[in-house]
Amino acid sequence: MAAKAAKKGGKRESVGERLLAWYDVHARDLPWRVRPPKKQKGARDRGARADPYRVWLSEIMLQQTTVATVGPYFRDFVSRWPDVESLAAAPRDKVMEAWAGLGYYSRARNLHACAIRVADEHDGRFPDTEEGLKALPGIGPYTAAAIAAIAFDRKATVVDGNVERVVARLFAIETPLPDAKKEIRPAAETLTPDERPGDFAQAMMDLGATICSPKSPSCNRCPVSQGCLAFEKGIAETLPRRAPKKARPTRRGACFYLRNGKGEVLLRRRPDKGLLGGMLEVPTTEWTQAEIDEDVLLEAAPVTAKWARVPGLVEHTFTHFHLQLAIFVAEVGAREAKKAEGLWVPEEELDAQALPTVMKKAAAHAAPDAGPLFKGK
Ligand code: ADE
Repeated sequence: MAAKAAKKGGKRESVGERLLAWYDVHARDLPWRVRPPKKQKGARDRGARADPYRVWLSEIMLQQTTVATVGPYFRDFVSRWPDVESLAAAPRDKVMEAWAGLGYYSRARNLHACAIRVADEHDGRFPDTEEGLKALPGIGPYTAAAIAAIAFDRKATVVDGNVERVVARLFAIETPLPDAKKEIRPAAETLTPDERPGDFAQAMMDLGATICSPKSPSCNRCPVSQGCLAFEKGIAETLPRRAPKKARPTRRGACFYLRNGKGEVLLRRRPDKGLLGGMLEVPTTEWTQAEIDEDVLLEAAPVTAKWARVPGLVEHTFTHFHLQLAIFVAEVGAREAKKAEGLWVPEEELDAQALPTVMKKAAAHAAPDAGPLFKGK
């Protein structure tokens, strides 16, 4: 049993107690976070409670995205839309634009839908239970638990990838993932304390991110190494085990970068459903596993034109496949330009459009002479 160790005044301190004491000193300063009570300085900070809006926004952004990447996006969102009502009132296109580059765009659509629901049906206040939160768009079991714990100090067990690793090690769970999840969750539930469950959840995340790292964990600095069964067995670094990954398939297609002779480029909006749903694109073909065949790809060009292939390929990796895109460029006169479906955007304003990363790569590859089209976040 991993939960008890480290005698203090004759009493064994639980993992929860030791972790909270560690968190009071070592909590990371993150833009959406309220410092733990002992780290709160000055009158403004003291007694501060997490704002459910900021907790929700950060948790949605942190799904499948790292803390480092989320930081600038989070700051940008809260400065544009400081509360759920202002986000609900924003046009959806503006929200998609601000999200561009974070990926997994269904999150942005659900984010906006959720803000509208909370503003219209809940008087601008997020529900304070896991069940109530799960009924909202874009909030699954993990996110509901994280918001319930962090924003409302509910005793919810929050198991993300970092926590999975910490728990697999504390309990020396050697079953490979994903099967190990069935053992990890109940083990994690035994650790969640009645006191400060929100800080405990964040402490587990921080321990996983800073000490209990995937490679070379710093067990000598770990507040819970005593009682960690994997540490005692000398197998911490080997856990969690994973079933061998299936190879990602490669899909292929083309993008068509069309200019109209007036400094504008053709963009199209993708259908709401599916990958990059609702986002703008440089007009593209279906993405299939067939080898690149220029004649076949050109059949899907948005207009008839003298298309020229730009040497090389644009490469981008999505969760479930790797993508290779051939890039074609052409310029057409006013009459042909009128036939094209989509919107014409000044080339120097491409950076201000809500283009997903793969499409920014396609545009930058198509127009190497246009100077840097994208400044990056
Ligand atoms: N990953 C997911 N949620 C997080 C949070 N609240 N703090 C740090 N990392 C996280």
